[in-house]
Amino acid sequence: MVSLIENPLRVGLQQDRVPEPQILVIFGASGDLTQRKLIPAIYQMKLERRLPPELTIVGVARREWSDDYFREQMREGVENFGGGLGREEIWDDFARGLFYFSADIDKQDDYLRLKAYLQDLDEKRGTRGNRVFYLAVAPRFFGEAMQQLGAAGMLADPAKHRLVIEKPFGKDLSSAQALNQIVRNIGTEKQVYRIDHYLGKETVQNLMVFRFANAIFEPLWNRQYVDHVQITVAETVGLEGRAGYYETSGALRDMVQNHLMQLFSLTAMEPPNSLDADSIRNEKVKVLQATHLASIEHLEQSAIRGQYTAGWMGGKQVPAYRSEDGASPESTTPTYAALKLYIDNWRWKDVPFYMRTGKRMPKKITEIAIQFKDVPFLMFQSASQQVNPNVLVMRIQPNEGIALRFEVKTPGNSLRTRSVDMDFRYETAFGRANTDAYSRLLVDCMLGDQTLFTRGDEVEASWRILTPLLNLWDAPAPPDSIPMYEAGTWGPIEAELLLNRDGRRWRRL
Ligand code: BG6
Repeated sequence: MVSLIENPLRVGLQQDRVPEPQILVIFGASGDLTQRKLIPAIYQMKLERRLPPELTIVGVARREWSDDYFREQMREGVENFGGGLGREEIWDDFARGLFYFSADIDKQDDYLRLKAYLQDLDEKRGTRGNRVFYLAVAPRFFGEAMQQLGAAGMLADPAKHRLVIEKPFGKDLSSAQALNQIVRNIGTEKQVYRIDHYLGKETVQNLMVFRFANAIFEPLWNRQYVDHVQITVAETVGLEGRAGYYETSGALRDMVQNHLMQLFSLTAMEPPNSLDADSIRNEKVKVLQATHLASIEHLEQSAIRGQYTAGWMGGKQVPAYRSEDGASPESTTPTYAALKLYIDNWRWKDVPFYMRTGKRMPKKITEIAIQFKDVPFLMFQSASQQVNPNVLVMRIQPNEGIALRFEVKTPGNSLRTRSVDMDFRYETAFGRANTDAYSRLLVDCMLGDQTLFTRGDEVEASWRILTPLLNLWDAPAPPDSIPMYEAGTWGPIEAELLLNRDGRRWRRL
């Protein structure tokens, strides 16, 4: 039998393979995502010799750029947002494979021209007709781009043609279903890679190894021992000039439906039968299907939203959300969301899962805390004695690691206890930076490994959970209907009450 330790999630092994020669076509190539994230991530893989020498990248966008100008822009991206260029010859070699193609996302002719252009490049660069089309465009263009690619016959070969779609996939359940229908019309699920960059994070992948490669935690991972779970994704950044996107998205669509739901499903799912992409994704779908907001009749007891007002962050004054460039002065877009969920299955019945995410919080921190139950009987009772329940914290970022909190006796004659941590830190244990999430995901996609990508039914299951809230929070409402929190604080007071009502409180981070 092959144990998980010898075979640490097939995904880990695949990464060392080099993908076949191919062309990566990035739609939205003049945008931030391409310059700041995608190209620096791919270039990092070049430096680590994980790319085929023939790899060719074609940036597609409407602006009239030359190949040379595109190369300069991408070079700036690698210098400013990546790990640096390394040796000049390596950059030169990479840049020779960078091309720019100006096209309109909704013009059929442009797709036909692009198709011919890519065939031409196949000849020149030896890329054998293999393509990855990456939609790094505004979500409202996903449907159009997919349909046009399909109509132009550019996704016709399931073995050679892949499609990567950025988040958010849809804006609610019905729009996600409509996009999935387009996927079925133009190709197969096997060709589609829905990106959630949280799945590319090392610590997120480790959730499964930690749970299923250790014998001692899994027996405790259930309603008998776990009191509740808290998932926190706190950010210090504000709107960052993204009002156009964020005003209609808000925290629920931007963070909860994807990143938090991924952390949630990996924490709560049953062990998969095997490590292939579909076995893992089946389990994630199953747990999402069993999940619901704590109370549908009283949504205010299931979820709290909030929006930041002006405040101080790191000694600097920052504006209110409503005063940010492009945000409406009467906006009710939530920049904070806290939810209480239940899972109706044997493992988790009646165990609340609380999750929260917010912008302009005091610290950037992502963690999952499993809070265990109180001991059944305490024999050390005295007025000065307080015993805290055990907590297992998986720190996703920063200070990546895992800590287990338990009680010990403090030295001395009197019987006193104190909470201490047993702490594992990636940096101390492995002493190296983690692979960037996008690097990891891009290489997996080029290799044809879908494990770390979201399947169509998974996205739908996660939208379904949030539908009652989306309906409520999207409804037109007066500006003062949304609770406020000062930038640099941990969210609105109402979010505290969400837990206080249950006799619990959010972890102080
Ligand atoms: C993105 C969201 O998906 O994730 C951003 O659109 C958010 O609003 C970002 O800031 C957070 O990612 P990370 O990796 O910094 O936690």
